[in-house]
Amino acid sequence: MTMRAVVRGVGHYLPTRVVENAEFEAMPDLDTTDEWIKTRSGIERRHFATDGDTTSSMAAAAARAALADAAMSADDIDAVVLATSTADLTFPSAATMVQSALGMTRGFAFDVQAVCAGFVYALANANALIISGQARRVLVIGAETFSKIMDWTDRSTCVLFGDGAGALVLEAEDGAGTSADRGILATDLNSDGRYRDLLYVDGGVSTGTSGYLRMQGNQVFRHAVEKLASTAHTAMDRAGVTADEVDWIVPHQANIRIIQGTAKKMNIPMDQVVVTVQDHGNTSAASIPLAMSVGRARGQLKDGDLIVTEAIGGGLAWGAVVLRW
Ligand code: UT7
Repeated sequence: MTMRAVVRGVGHYLPTRVVENAEFEAMPDLDTTDEWIKTRSGIERRHFATDGDTTSSMAAAAARAALADAAMSADDIDAVVLATSTADLTFPSAATMVQSALGMTRGFAFDVQAVCAGFVYALANANALIISGQARRVLVIGAETFSKIMDWTDRSTCVLFGDGAGALVLEAEDGAGTSADRGILATDLNSDGRYRDLLYVDGGVSTGTSGYLRMQGNQVFRHAVEKLASTAHTAMDRAGVTADEVDWIVPHQANIRIIQGTAKKMNIPMDQVVVTVQDHGNTSAASIPLAMSVGRARGQLKDGDLIVTEAIGGGLAWGAVVLRW
């Protein structure tokens, strides 16, 4: 018998403020167009936090939705693993703020910081907690408020990102140890700090400011497709599955051209890829659980489906998870 971390519920939260590309086009100093944003990134709109929204409040809202979907309460949860690069404060963790918002007085909670790869890292950590017997039920959340770290004068970044949160509830279940099991079948994590200057925030405790996101987008792009396809193949090999068995790719939603290029390299047609980048923009660690929640609501991800999820971001850090829903 093999212990598996099985998805029991999924949910998300998006701020009510929707910003269309036209709003950026109307900013004369920015010198951008709806056409450029759409053709270069696939993004048409994104949500931005309003006054009441913080990373932890959005995370708690997504967690409540996932718990409702799992027919569980916060009392059932042993651990909260929250992927974010935009926690409300330097500390305590956004995860402990979620614990407090949900009224959880037991278990443990911590943040994972791997930027856009954060949710894949969080899933791998939650899986490790479950298969090692340290937790039976884990809330895995991705939540971001990237609008707080945008330089609104930098057209090469400020049009690309959005805010939001998504969450999964994972629960331990005995499996047979084959790729027919439900739950997480394999994970693959990578990082290479030589590329840390390609995507970073120029603030933190060393500057006394929270700083702004800086990105050499075309350099990140050059790494993305190759590294994403490679990590996906490694995770699929570990899981013992082939491309023709995969039902859905749920990719990190940064750029439609990266999503298409990776799917092509993986030999999986675009009608088996969950795409939300047009409506959410790049929500960093929130993008995969948001896409899972929206995909599930669209009827794209069904019980028993074999799913590959992959992401890359600042670090560079990248990885993939293979799971059967
Ligand atoms: O999620 C974390 C990981 N991040 C990513 O995966 C992002 C990866 N990178 C990308 O998605 C793409 O590189 C971008 C969407 C960021 C940019 O697309 P690109 O095709 O790589 O364009 P580029 O950066 O090479 O810029 C092309 C041109 C430049 O002008 P010149 O030098 O050719 O005259 C830019 O100045 O587009 C210009 N440009 C813009 N023009 C209008 C850059 N941003 C804008 C803009 N509007 N918003």
